[in-house]
Amino acid sequence: MATGEEAVHMNNAALGLAGKPATAARMYDYFLGGVHNFPADRDAARRVIEQYPLFPQWAVANRAFLRRAVRYLLRHGIRQFLDLGSGIPTVGNVHEIAHEFASDARVVYVDIDSVAVAESLEILDGNKLATAIRADLRDPRAILDHPDVRAILDFERPVGLLLAAVLHFVPEDEQAYGGVEQLVAALAPGSYLTVSHVATESLPISSTRTKNAVEVYTRQTATSGKPRDREQVERFFTGLELVEPGVAWLHDWRPDPNDTTKVPANPTDGGEWAAVGRKG
Ligand SMILES: C[S@@+](CC[C@H](N)C(=O)[O-])C[C@H]1O[C@@H](n2cnc3c(N)ncnc32)[C@H](O)[C@@H]1O
Repeated sequence: MATGEEAVHMNNAALGLAGKPATAARMYDYFLGGVHNFPADRDAARRVIEQYPLFPQWAVANRAFLRRAVRYLLRHGIRQFLDLGSGIPTVGNVHEIAHEFASDARVVYVDIDSVAVAESLEILDGNKLATAIRADLRDPRAILDHPDVRAILDFERPVGLLLAAVLHFVPEDEQAYGGVEQLVAALAPGSYLTVSHVATESLPISSTRTKNAVEVYTRQTATSGKPRDREQVERFFTGLELVEPGVAWLHDWRPDPNDTTKVPANPTDGGEWAAVGRKG
C-alpha cells in the first residue's frame, strides 16, 4: 500500500508530471498553516516565501475575502455556488458558510488536483447538497456538462461562480478570459462572479523576485502562474455590474471588523485584487 506521498508521486508520474512533486493546492494549504502538505510542497512554498514573505498573509486575506464574498452573495439571495479551483478543504469552506446561512444551499467544488478533490469528497460524504469533481477550468464545457454538477446545480436559477486565487494559474489570456466568458454565459441573470487574483502591482512581472516565484510553480508544480494588473482583473467582469467597491485589494473589499486580516503597511503590498460582479 503506497503512502499518501508515494501515491501522489505515482499519480503525477501517470499524468506525465514526474519531477513536478509539489502542487499549488498543497502549497496554499502550507501558506494557510494547514497539515495537508508534503515535504516537496513545503520546500516549494518556502522558496516562494523567500521571494515574497507576505505570501502566507495574502493567503489568509484571500480566504477571509472569499468568506465575506460568499456571505454577501447569500445576503443577496444566492443559494447555489460553483467554486472553481476550490483547493484542499480548510476552515470556513464554502458549504459550511452557506449552510450556516441557508440549510438548503448547494455547492459544487471543482479542482484540477485529485488530492484536493478526494479530500473534499471525504468531508462531504453523505452530504446530498454538495459535491466535488476533478476538472480543469480551461475546459468549461466539461464542467458545465458534468452530470454531478447538473445533479446539484440548477442553471435556470442564479449561481455564485467563485474563482478565488485560481485565474493566475491560467497564464494564457485566451484561456483565462475565454473560459470565464463561457462560464458566465451559462449562468442565469442575477448570478454573480467572484474573483481574486495575484496583482502585478504587488508582484511586478519584470522583477527578479516575481520571476523566481513563478519559476518555482513552473518547475515544481503542474500549474505555472501569471499576475495581472487591476485593469486586467476588471476585464474578467466585462458585461457584468461590479458590486461596490469594484476591484479592490483583498483587505479593502467590504472589510469586516470581525476579520483579523492584516492591512499591509505599504498600500501596493495588497497581494491580490478582489471583486464581485452581478450578471443583469
Ligand atoms: C491558491 S488555491 C485557491 C483555493 C481557494 N479557491 C481559495 O481561494 O482559498 C488555487 C487552486 O486552484 C487549483 N487550480 C489551478 N489551476 C487550475 C485549473 N486549471 N483548473 C482547476 N483548478 C485549478 C489548484 O489546484 C488549487 O487548488
